[in-house]
Amino acid sequence: MAIQFADRMDGVEDSFIREILKVTENPEIISFAGGLPNPALFPVEQVAVAAEKVIREQGSCVLQYATTEGYLPLREYIANRYQEKSGLEIDPSEILIVNGSQQGIDLVSKILLNKGDKVLIEEPGYLGAIQAISLYQPQFLSASLLNDGIDLQQVERILKNHSIKLMYSVPNFQNPAGITYSREKRTGLANLLKVYGVHLLEDNPYGDLRFSGENLPPIKSTLKELGILLGSFSKVTVPGIRLGWVCADSEIMRKIKVVKQAADLHSNYMAQRILYQYLVDNDLDEHVSKINQAYKKQKECMVACMEQSFPESVTFTRPEGGMFLWGELPERFSTFELFEKAIKKNVAFVPGRAFHLDGKGDNTFRLNFSNSNEELIKKGIACLADVIKEYLAEK
Ligand SMILES: Cc1ncc(COP(=O)(O)O)c(C=O)c1O
Repeated sequence: MAIQFADRMDGVEDSFIREILKVTENPEIISFAGGLPNPALFPVEQVAVAAEKVIREQGSCVLQYATTEGYLPLREYIANRYQEKSGLEIDPSEILIVNGSQQGIDLVSKILLNKGDKVLIEEPGYLGAIQAISLYQPQFLSASLLNDGIDLQQVERILKNHSIKLMYSVPNFQNPAGITYSREKRTGLANLLKVYGVHLLEDNPYGDLRFSGENLPPIKSTLKELGILLGSFSKVTVPGIRLGWVCADSEIMRKIKVVKQAADLHSNYMAQRILYQYLVDNDLDEHVSKINQAYKKQKECMVACMEQSFPESVTFTRPEGGMFLWGELPERFSTFELFEKAIKKNVAFVPGRAFHLDGKGDNTFRLNFSNSNEELIKKGIACLADVIKEYLAEK
């Protein structure tokens, strides 16, 4: 007999990217499809030392249940970092530790969204957010990403014509497009959202991964209490530790605490203590700068290879940070068709249609540069260039 699943499961699919990643598990395939940080840069030894220290020295304490908000010194560390890096004054009570920013997306959606509520997202958009938010059965509307951030004219039109409950955005080195909002776009968006009283869920897992250009302040700096910020240790330390945070004002925070408690009581306390010990004993900025030097080289290598070997009709972004490049074939071509051909030649990427709500973006694609070395990038891009040239010529 068919299982009667809850309505909220309707139309929420297993992530398409996970399906693609299964295909690319074959070790012969050079994959630019995933979105993983480079494990060669994980501070394995330092985390091992921190783990040994906290477990041996404070074992019975760190192995106990803990508070829902998370370890206070870790929240203080995050608050200080906001102050230091972007001048944002945040009280540690406005920060709650979660199991990666992914859980933050779920918890914020849970406290704000009723079935049918309208949510504004970027197009292309982060699939993990679309999946998490979908479980609350909203209606999605989208505005296009341009080279300097979201299209504010589209945003304004949507805000005027629809009662939007929540907007979700990734203003720094967006996944999938690698695009960063300019200063003007940040202020413009904040001002629009203020006029319409719409909350912004500002997801920022990549902000620290800046290789060049100027650091820009979070939109929350202008948006104030309408801004809910998400942060993550995944890309700057290790993702397996599953620690991130939600930063919101006290009224929102009270509700988030309730749903977090109901979901899992608190995030892994031992992991929080190990991470904090790691942060006390090591210089995070130094580590981040090591990651950025490596990713910068990998990105430059990928861009140089693409400039050299891709046909001129194929365009792509040159991000100043993050982990992704976004490309476009001429309009009438399909990167799904290209993907089938590329896999046969042992190179993989993600077709961009996956990041669009309604089948648009069929000519776009995402490439990840963080999880490859230069040798693989050179080989993989040369191979992809051949596949593209063949495909464009035959169609
Ligand atoms: C935009 C964006 N948000 C959130 C996440 C989830 O990160 P975390 O490991 O902090 O849950 C990712 C992961 O790739 C992401 O790209």
